[in-house]
Amino acid sequence: MLRARVCAQIGDMADKYGGSALWETYHRTRITVDASRDLSGFRSGDVNFKLGLWDPGTNGVRYLKSLIYNLAERLDEADWARLHRIRNRRTGRPIEVRTHGEPVCMDYLQAVLELGFMSRHVVLDGAAVLEVGAGFGRTCHAVLANHDVAEYCIVDLDNSLELARAYLRQALDDEDFMKVRLMRAADLEQALGESRFDLCVNIDSFAEMDPDIVRDYLRFIAGHCRHLYVKNPVGKYFDPSLDGHAGGRELVAMALSTGLLRDVIDIHDSDAVREQSTAFVSAYRPAPGWARIADAWAPPWSYYWQALYRADTDE
Ligand SMILES: C[S@@+](CC[C@H](N)C(=O)[O-])C[C@H]1O[C@@H](n2cnc3c(N)ncnc32)[C@H](O)[C@@H]1O
Repeated sequence: MLRARVCAQIGDMADKYGGSALWETYHRTRITVDASRDLSGFRSGDVNFKLGLWDPGTNGVRYLKSLIYNLAERLDEADWARLHRIRNRRTGRPIEVRTHGEPVCMDYLQAVLELGFMSRHVVLDGAAVLEVGAGFGRTCHAVLANHDVAEYCIVDLDNSLELARAYLRQALDDEDFMKVRLMRAADLEQALGESRFDLCVNIDSFAEMDPDIVRDYLRFIAGHCRHLYVKNPVGKYFDPSLDGHAGGRELVAMALSTGLLRDVIDIHDSDAVREQSTAFVSAYRPAPGWARIADAWAPPWSYYWQALYRADTDE
């Protein structure tokens, strides 16, 4: 009789405090009775991925949004003002979060951080800017929205150039679009032989070019520009756990062969990245007399560095 009553009470408690259908399922499928028998590797496998949120295999968009959200929360007032001034940022339906009432995406978050760095060291109002490798044109858009530049010239490969033309035509008003000059890389010397620029910008692009092409560009910059802003990786990595080498072996081999900085490093080791940053600063100096004005880690990517140089003629 007593035993029956105790059992009934235990049954009630189980009903009262028992697991949801969701947790019943997890215990059946992931955190099974066997889970505690072998702890080797459980922190980076199915067991822990049901105890934490961060299964990297299935949470790509969650990670991206978390990263954007965290970066946005750390922007200072000047960065927010820069971001706010960039109208039409949602063209092309980016993946975005909303913080402080503003839609925020990774493209323009990076753009305001880069612009903050550049504008601390170079006067952009009235400047003639040359950008090599502009992608769809986010940097051009961010600069024109925040500064009254005299002209913004983009040099790129044909298809990327047409993408930038189409995007900027939609994103910019007529007055700003008139300041944009789009130039095929193949026509660079012929078209810009006599031109002079206050600033040349290269973001995430020299590292993807053949080494000789980068040297050609640096020579051109040395002869035609007063400042250079570079933001690129400090080296290469070879770690399939990061991206599953999704592009295939051939693409990995191509990626390893581009750029001036081809040392394979642990890109998530801050000491290795910092050590390699010295080679970065030296590799992108356009000519021996150019002065490094500033250089720093370029968040959020662990292995990106940024540097600003000035031609010796200014000193
Ligand atoms: C990874 S994307 C970066 C785009 C942009 N800077 C950004 O950060 O969003 C690399 C860019 O470099 C350009 N590019 C690659 N090789 C080039 C070359 N030889 N001359 C000029 N641009 C080049 C690509 O077409 C592309 O626009």
